[in-house]
Amino acid sequence: MTPSGPMSIDDGSDVNTSRSYLASPARRSNCSTSRVTLLVIVTSALTLTAGLLLGRFAIPRDDDDESGVFLPGAPERLMESGDSDVAQKILDGIEAGKIEENLRLITAKPHIAGRQADFELVDLLKARFQEYGLQVQVTPYDVLLSYPSDTVPNSVRLLDGDREVIYDAVADESDLSEQPGVVRAFHAYSPAGLVEAPLVFAGYGRVEDFDWLRSQNINVTGHVVIVKYGKMFRGDKVDIAHANGALGVIMYADPAEYTGMGSGDTRVYPDTWWLPPDGVQRGTIFTGDGDPLTPGYPANNLAYRPNEADVKLPKIPSHPIGYGAAEKIMKHLGGMEVPGDSDWQGGMNITYRTGPGFLNTSWRIQLNVTSHNQRAKAENVIGIIKGEIEPDRYVLLGNHRDAWIYGALDPSTGTAAMLEIARVMGKLVQTGEWKPRRSIMFCSWGAEEYALAGSTEWVEQYVATLRERAVAYINMDTAVVGNDTLRLGAVPLMHKVAYEAAKKVENPNPAERAAGRTSVYDTWLHIEPWKDDNGQSKGVPRIDDLGSGSDFAPLLQKVGIPALDLWYSFDPALYNVQWFALYHTEYEVFDIYKSQFDRDFKCLQAVARVSAEVTRSLADSLLLPLGLSDYSQGLHDILHTLDNDYGAVLRKNLLNFGLELSS
Ligand SMILES: *[C@@H]1O[C@H](CO)[C@@H](O)[C@H](O)[C@H]1NC(C)=O
Ligand SMILES: *[C@@H]1O[C@H](CO)[C@@H](O)[C@H](O)[C@H]1NC(C)=O
Ligand SMILES: *[C@@H]1O[C@H](CO)[C@@H](O)[C@H](O)[C@H]1NC(C)=O
Ligand SMILES: *[C@@H]1O[C@H](CO)[C@@H](O)[C@H](O)[C@H]1NC(C)=O
Ligand SMILES: *[C@@H]1O[C@H](CO)[C@@H](O)[C@H](O)[C@H]1NC(C)=O
Ligand SMILES: [Zn+2]
Repeated sequence: MTPSGPMSIDDGSDVNTSRSYLASPARRSNCSTSRVTLLVIVTSALTLTAGLLLGRFAIPRDDDDESGVFLPGAPERLMESGDSDVAQKILDGIEAGKIEENLRLITAKPHIAGRQADFELVDLLKARFQEYGLQVQVTPYDVLLSYPSDTVPNSVRLLDGDREVIYDAVADESDLSEQPGVVRAFHAYSPAGLVEAPLVFAGYGRVEDFDWLRSQNINVTGHVVIVKYGKMFRGDKVDIAHANGALGVIMYADPAEYTGMGSGDTRVYPDTWWLPPDGVQRGTIFTGDGDPLTPGYPANNLAYRPNEADVKLPKIPSHPIGYGAAEKIMKHLGGMEVPGDSDWQGGMNITYRTGPGFLNTSWRIQLNVTSHNQRAKAENVIGIIKGEIEPDRYVLLGNHRDAWIYGALDPSTGTAAMLEIARVMGKLVQTGEWKPRRSIMFCSWGAEEYALAGSTEWVEQYVATLRERAVAYINMDTAVVGNDTLRLGAVPLMHKVAYEAAKKVENPNPAERAAGRTSVYDTWLHIEPWKDDNGQSKGVPRIDDLGSGSDFAPLLQKVGIPALDLWYSFDPALYNVQWFALYHTEYEVFDIYKSQFDRDFKCLQAVARVSAEVTRSLADSLLLPLGLSDYSQGLHDILHTLDNDYGAVLRKNLLNFGLELSS
């Protein structure tokens, strides 16, 4: 380390005078040789002194009492990792029964963002954090949300040539839709609008599906399309349909993917976790991030807000229905049969046809979306345990609080677990058994279901501070969707800390323990051994890259905070699905979680323990447990993938695309 001239000059007042003198352009031109010589001598002397001082104190010496200590005289505990007994105390302290109580309480009422039940949960979290001895901050934002009409529900109807209603999808809506607080099926941010047109089945609604329709001379312009959920974000389906000229979109979850029929199991909720015909997946179809009215800036009182019409919101009405209703509509579709051996087929008891229009060509589909956008309050509740030695370094653990309906899995499993971690850590701090080195922040995000609004606005407000101070973020959204194994998405920097934590946590499955796989890590490695591109085992369990579907996205992508997302998952060999089938439906309730996913809450307890240990390790280690060589390897792998998938295209189209792969 070489002290720079101006830095050492700043310290002496005499020399300071010469600095301002030198800075004056009028005098500089007259500067005499002797003055310059004097300055060189003074600067050299100061540099030499600084060098000697650094040599004496900053470089460890064997004959020194403070050997290895960077700051002489500083208390030794500043230079050590935290008390390692604390790790076990935290793991032991986390109780499955307490997590179950939390989940029951949080899911007692539907709690969509921006409405009364969500505000009540804000109060609950605040009170709990305070009870656990945490400092609490609530950060409110004024964001644009979207709700169905209270008086005229959204509707999908089949009309005959005289515009008489032959079938109304409301007939197959779940009875639960009538319960107070249960938001009826809708797609958030869909524009309102009434459309009557012939129907076209457009598969999954991907670009290639529309291309295929075009290749069959099926023109969707001026038509309503019906598409299956799956393969991609629902909002993109609406954008793609619009780009292809469709006037409106109807979306449904096909039983081929949302029931157990593939394995011959015809049972559905409440006997199993499979989707019944009237279960409907809600969700946003906005393809932007955060509050649509304040992109890039926090949605507070000072924010500039353009007109809604000038904001990039979805352009055509879209509405979700159950497969019960979809079957009653699609069985009348005309046109050609879809290709036999293709993913255009599905599990309904009909002949799948493309349209356009119905077997009776005078029939039309009528879609009436009556939802509206509305500004509402989205609050984040932040509970803080202040660090003892590096209070201005933040380890963040978070999850959203809002749910489309009861949210028993998404997101409340995560919130129930996070509260238990806060309780246990808070208690250890309160009793003086633990003083974490760095600060820990428990973040309960608002309005995540609306394009990650709460976390995005918070990041937009505090981006400068977070960039300097945030150490890492652990996301706990939907913490259990099965009882098979832990699964993770994370940046490579955080792989190591996750592996180490998973090794310390007892396996929740007695059969696995009996088979000798005593830790969460053992089963994870057994089920998900990670192989590289050449099929070579890496000797560790697989960790996915992070996508964008939850609150880690703004923290990672807008600030660069290393992030990790974790959950307990089902066995993909047993369940050939991407995600749990009841996702975002009215049937995501406490009882189904308890009866079908995690009877004794041992899986959720295990996820809570892994998260807690990752958090503790990040908060307490002297050196941050982030894997730098994993990071370099990860970048290398990504580059390799990019080159494999797009190298030829990029080299052809970009002037400066040169990939330097060393192996
Ligand atoms: C089409 O439906 C109308 C009723 O809307 C009916 O009168 C007519 O006979 C039907 N046409 C065919 C070919 O089934
Ligand atoms: C599709 O239909 C629209 C409206 O009828 C028409 O303007 C357009 O030219 C058609 N596209 C093709 C490729 O036929
Ligand atoms: C499928 O539909 C056909 C014709 O409507 C009916 O006869 C059959 O019973 C249905 N099968 C099932 C499994 O519902
Ligand atoms: C469509 O919705 C509007 C409210 O946005 C309502 O006034 C109208 O009656 C509805 N039309 C039909 C045919 O359902
Ligand atoms: C895991 O879940 C499945 C499906 O609900 C259940 O049949 C099985 O018994 C569960 N296993 C354990 C160890 O709880
Ligand atoms: Zn969620």
